[in-house]
Amino acid sequence: MKVPLLDLKPQYQSLKKELDEAILRVAESQYFILGPEVEKMEKEFCDYLHCKHSIGVSSGTDALLLALMAINIGPGDEVIVPTYSFFATAGVVSRLNAKLVLADIDPVTFNISVDEIKRKMTSKTKAIIPVHLYGQSAAMEKIMRVARENNIVVIEDAAQAIGTQYKDGKCVGTIGDIGCFSFFPSKNLGGYGDGGLVTTNDDDLAYMLRIKRVHGGEQKYYHKVIGGNFRIDALQAAVLRVKLPHLDKWSEKRRSNAEYYYELFKKAGLAEEPGKTKIDDKNKVLLPKPIYKGNAAVKNYHIYNQFIIRVQNRDELKKFLTDSEIGNEIYYPVPFHMQECFANLNYKVGDFPEAENACNTSLAIPIYPELTKQQQEYVVLKIKEFIQGK
Ligand SMILES: Cc1ncc(COP(=O)(O)O)c(C=O)c1O
Repeated sequence: MKVPLLDLKPQYQSLKKELDEAILRVAESQYFILGPEVEKMEKEFCDYLHCKHSIGVSSGTDALLLALMAINIGPGDEVIVPTYSFFATAGVVSRLNAKLVLADIDPVTFNISVDEIKRKMTSKTKAIIPVHLYGQSAAMEKIMRVARENNIVVIEDAAQAIGTQYKDGKCVGTIGDIGCFSFFPSKNLGGYGDGGLVTTNDDDLAYMLRIKRVHGGEQKYYHKVIGGNFRIDALQAAVLRVKLPHLDKWSEKRRSNAEYYYELFKKAGLAEEPGKTKIDDKNKVLLPKPIYKGNAAVKNYHIYNQFIIRVQNRDELKKFLTDSEIGNEIYYPVPFHMQECFANLNYKVGDFPEAENACNTSLAIPIYPELTKQQQEYVVLKIKEFIQGK
């Protein structure tokens, strides 16, 4: 049996008629960038996320870059970012010549540690970028409190967390000052190419985000401020409009797949006690701990963009699964403080132990909505074979 990490074809098949029609509609309109399709999409995202403004952009990376540009981040400013995330979260800070200040993560949720934020804050800290990694919210209440007390802007990197709800039921990306989303095809809501979204409830920020999306001009060829080309195209908007009404159903399916993994790992005698911060038993698998599960007000407590297990012999397990034709991936093998391009920041191994531990032990296994029970059983069977054969 083959189990891919992600298979997008069944989703396309299930919506083929509507998707093909939407793509043709754009071709027939010959209106390719921004325009009515994007305006409708933005309105639909405001309704879905319950926010005042949503602005379609060219990618999740550009959403983050635009957000930082909208608040005029530049040389002399410090921006606090978790050292464990996809590269874009950190790259955008350095691209604007601001100082990248890294923080360690909470070992249970993989999200930025609030104590670390407090330790790393200085009078120059202008923004914090919490990431809702793998589809689970960062500790937004505490982060917002620290930020408000210190006049710091919060830009949420919700690239992996569209529809995720925080403990009060609010969607992530609408809690801080600006939210950033990605529609990279592997996300829970993926486009047919690159795309992203920024959200805000602040009218002034929305204005800046809108004009900086198009080279800083309200009117063509008249530039108030320096912006960029961060426009989303109509084709992405049309595809996303077809898919958005199905998003919660897909995330629900991911959650039920997660539940089935918990059951299977438990039955196989492999499940480590949930909530542990480290995997110190080579015969066990540490499963993710969804933190707001059981809170009746919160339906989308975790949207499982990835299902991350932790094991001691991670690299060998990776090879074993790959040889068994089971898709898997290491998100992420190297934390930011150990990336070659950030050598000038002079961090060293040991500076962020929790993130380093996550980099060395974590592995994503298939979780996509159309995954079958038989495929999940096979994944756990193979992991058991690996662990018990050792
Ligand atoms: C946490 C995080 N931030 C930012 C991005 C960047 O999004 P994009 O690939 O759309 O530029 C991604 C996407 O991979 C991501 O996972």
